[in-house]
Amino acid sequence: MPNFNKLFDEWAKSYDETVYGTNNEYVEVFENYKDILKYISDEVSDKNGTIVEIGVGTGNLTKVLYEKKSNIVGIEPSKEMRKIAKEKLPNVDILDGHFLSIPINKKIDAIVSSYAFHHLTYYEKKKSLEYLDSKLNNNGKIVIADTMFESIEYKENLLKYIESNKCFNLLNDLRTEYYELLDDLCALFKELNYSYSLKKMNKFVWVISAIKGGY
Ligand SMILES: C[S@@+](CC[C@H](N)C(=O)[O-])C[C@H]1O[C@@H](n2cnc3c(N)ncnc32)[C@H](O)[C@@H]1O
Repeated sequence: MPNFNKLFDEWAKSYDETVYGTNNEYVEVFENYKDILKYISDEVSDKNGTIVEIGVGTGNLTKVLYEKKSNIVGIEPSKEMRKIAKEKLPNVDILDGHFLSIPINKKIDAIVSSYAFHHLTYYEKKKSLEYLDSKLNNNGKIVIADTMFESIEYKENLLKYIESNKCFNLLNDLRTEYYELLDDLCALFKELNYSYSLKKMNKFVWVISAIKGGY
């Protein structure tokens, strides 16, 4: 059971103000948010089978995907987040689950996620990718957008910059949640024989697009 449910149950009602707002500590984290969601949906536009999104939150990426294709299923552990996503998308299945528990019993063509993978420790990420791999068709794709750092030096400089801007909540998140170095995340995909490409979307967020069996 994910540890962050209470936080997201409480954040659910104001979450969209944070991601679309222009006056809060997280503005730079969510810079180009709409482009990030579009980029992810473009990355899976060649997939015609089931697409699963994990950690849908209020359903913003789910909506972009649904507007292109109807065979999208959302997974979200927070009850309050699921409620809001369901209100936006009454025709989409938004199921209770998480990165290590997807209640779907057929093979999946693509798995996507935005701003959620950092809730898992590195060990849980490894276990999760092994689990997701077992659910994915050959040539299936995993696309993950999240804060990732290109080097320890980059991370340290970014933390100094955030501190100088007095964004103390953001600073605390970056220090206490499980944000990885790009190389460390890529290593997990390599271990599973995935080929991958990377794209930087803003100061914080990168997208990894990984193809099963492509290495
Ligand atoms: C910052 S929100 C991102 C929401 C949405 N994907 C977006 O891009 O706006 C993180 C979401 O991940 C969910 N989450 C937290 N831990 C999770 C886990 N272990 N598995 C799946 N989702 C998780 C939270 O409940 C929350 O809805």
